[in-house]
Amino acid sequence: MSGDAISPKGIHHVELLVGNAKQAAYFYRKAFGFSQLAYAGPETGLQGQASYVMGQGKIRLVLSTPLTPEDPMGERHRLRGDSVLDVAFIVDDVDRQFEHIVDRGGKVAREPYDMTDDHGRVRRAKIYAYGDTLHSLISLQDYKGKFLPGYKTQRVAEPSFGLRAVDHIVGNVEDGKMNDWVRYYEQVFGFNQFLSFDDKDISTEYSALRSKVMASPTANVKFPINEPADGLRKSQIQEYLESHQGPGVQHIALITGDILHTVSVLRQAGVDFLKIPPSYYDSIWDRVGDINEDCRAIEELDILVDRDEEGYLLQIFTRPVEDRPTLFYEIIQRCGSQSFGKGNFKSLFEAIEREQAARGNL
Ligand code: FE2
Repeated sequence: MSGDAISPKGIHHVELLVGNAKQAAYFYRKAFGFSQLAYAGPETGLQGQASYVMGQGKIRLVLSTPLTPEDPMGERHRLRGDSVLDVAFIVDDVDRQFEHIVDRGGKVAREPYDMTDDHGRVRRAKIYAYGDTLHSLISLQDYKGKFLPGYKTQRVAEPSFGLRAVDHIVGNVEDGKMNDWVRYYEQVFGFNQFLSFDDKDISTEYSALRSKVMASPTANVKFPINEPADGLRKSQIQEYLESHQGPGVQHIALITGDILHTVSVLRQAGVDFLKIPPSYYDSIWDRVGDINEDCRAIEELDILVDRDEEGYLLQIFTRPVEDRPTLFYEIIQRCGSQSFGKGNFKSLFEAIEREQAARGNL
């Protein structure tokens, strides 16, 4: 990778393709504490699809659905079900970044184009990542509106659950492809490798995976990339690849400053989390030592704890938020630690395997 790499500045939004955006918007409002901020559809001049912008803290999720069978999103939805379509990046200069990406072998989904309305102009282009996941490049210097041109403010406010920002977004790719995508993120987006886990770090009695964490040097954006590894039984990554019909986003980790509060309200709202066996807590406090939070409350809410040289973190994982075992969410609170909870991998993957077994996929 050469020294003149230019990198995205951060995540503008994450767009999800869903079967029914109106109902998904209600789910993200009531179950996850997002407010609806804006809408685009035929009524606002967007033909063929409807999109709802959901916001909480700095997080922006766009829920989009095709309105006609001709729309290419319809075919994608038939194949993959509800899934992440686009992780859109903010960049300084779309044309310059686009040229740079193309020079370095980036796969073009759409050349730079203008989006305009009464509030100004947004320049945008689209680049492919793993599978048909997109990274839009967006520059907002000439735009004064609240979100993007074409969206009309349509606010349905909800009390926030305390989710503040996207911490990391994890992709699952095929066996043997992880290093290709690591190189792609290095060359095309100027990312660096932040961490690496091999199948000895991430294995259970039955299955294994490998993971490398890519990080943008200019933004607090991390992109772990997983691939399945050989084990006695089917890796959870392989189950994902079969259910999603190819590579794609496995989970989105959202930061909270108060995980006890956030997870309490998520649970009251009916969000389903992976069940960790009570024995997890038998040895945990000896391993991680003192933390600022109430340990009893952590145990009651099934929150996982890990510590490294820099501090500790608290995390919990939802079950998949659709019927296919594909996309799920992580809720994370960082107290110094910048890692990913390596000490929890085994318990977490055993919990996932119990659910895989119940689906007949282990
Ligand atoms: Fe994660």
